Amino acid sequence: MTQSATGSNPSPFSSLSVGPITLRNRFIKSGANENMYRKGFPTKALLEHHRDLAAGGIALTTMAYAAVAKVGRTLPDQLWLRPEVLPDLKAITDAVHAEGGKISLQLTHGGSFVTSIFLPHRTISASGGLNLAGLFHGNILQRPMKEKDMALVTQQFADGARMAREAGFDAVEIHMGHGYLLNQFISPLSNQRSDEYGGSAENRARFPARVLAAVKEAVGEDLAVIAKINVADGVRRGATAEDAVVTAKVLESQGADMLVLSGGRNVESTWFMFGSPMNQEEFAKIFKYKPLQRLLMKAAAAGTPKGLKFREMYFEDYSRKVRAAVTLPLAYLGGVKSLDNAEKAMAEGFDAVAMARVLLHDPALVNKFQDGSVRQSGCTSCNACIPQIYNQAGTYCVLNEPLDPAMNEVRASGLS
Ligand SMILES: Cc1cc2nc3c(=O)[nH]c(=O)nc-3n(C[C@H](O)[C@H](O)[C@H](O)COP(=O)(O)O)c2cc1C
Repeated sequence: MTQSATGSNPSPFSSLSVGPITLRNRFIKSGANENMYRKGFPTKALLEHHRDLAAGGIALTTMAYAAVAKVGRTLPDQLWLRPEVLPDLKAITDAVHAEGGKISLQLTHGGSFVTSIFLPHRTISASGGLNLAGLFHGNILQRPMKEKDMALVTQQFADGARMAREAGFDAVEIHMGHGYLLNQFISPLSNQRSDEYGGSAENRARFPARVLAAVKEAVGEDLAVIAKINVADGVRRGATAEDAVVTAKVLESQGADMLVLSGGRNVESTWFMFGSPMNQEEFAKIFKYKPLQRLLMKAAAAGTPKGLKFREMYFEDYSRKVRAAVTLPLAYLGGVKSLDNAEKAMAEGFDAVAMARVLLHDPALVNKFQDGSVRQSGCTSCNACIPQIYNQAGTYCVLNEPLDPAMNEVRASGLS
């Protein structure tokens, strides 16, 4: 293993074992909704996006938000896992492998967080009641999951992982953060259950851990099983860093191969997730003809602390607490913008760094870090990329050339 110049810390360019797989370096592309799907099929744009990231030196690129059930989507065109999409997924994993990279599929279920689709029945969640996230599309009420719902969703995650294996993925990342279904169990903000799945932090982590165990059993010999968790929700009455420590321990005991440490919730604390305010001007442009969506974005920004400014490594203090409590590999995430940041993360005992915005800005950043031509990303942390998840051509950095919309109309496999 290559050692860094600063002593015994691993170099960010050294290899890393994560369960059954080995990463060529310690840089991970964090899942960032690409909006490169049509009618639930991955497009050529998605293939090119992940190919570019692999060619640009990333060890593991994460394909964002693959819903394990049709009702688990949050957006109408979003991927949901079913046998028909396997040729498209295979085309993408092949393209990444040809560039020497590895690829992970983010498995998720929105639960009650279904912002842009109407479901003709109450959405499922940890608890029942009014569903804030569903207000504008008529998903007004949510219901608490019963045992048979939990058994079904657990099965859907395991089946999703099997499909990921069949399509050639190297890893799956179970999304347990950001306010999606599994996070709705972990967070006391959305979990008011009085059974063994509610109450203490251990109990709130029980259902996500059950899903992880089922996924491990389904594919754990072949694929790395990663979980993305919140180091905190960043909102009053939400999960704290102490809760995150408990969740991490529970997942470690269930055999998670690595945790990616994130934070914040899509509705209540997006600012916390990104360590900076949302770009309302860019949202206003994207939702020019959608006044309700503009209103929703404004409402979601209401809790943003006044004067909040982006700061590199903004989850450092929280993530250190998790690092101190567990021994499994951890990927630091949140505001990694330079090689110095990555080296600092290694020095603090993190095993990898996961990055999103800087790689939307420059998919070849890792190669440039490695050849010494760049030490600091040119990303301005303007957050204009975030509203682009609604851009017809796909998510992109506004400092770069616009994407070709035609690439986002053809299936990744070329099939029609
Ligand atoms: C455009 C965009 C879309 C995102 N979509 C997702 C997503 O689908 N799933 C997810 O887990 N995180 C998503 N994220 C959050 C990132 O994975 C990451 O947690 C966040 O950007 C902080 O990392 P960074 O400072 O390296 O950008 C998204 C981020 C961006 C910028």
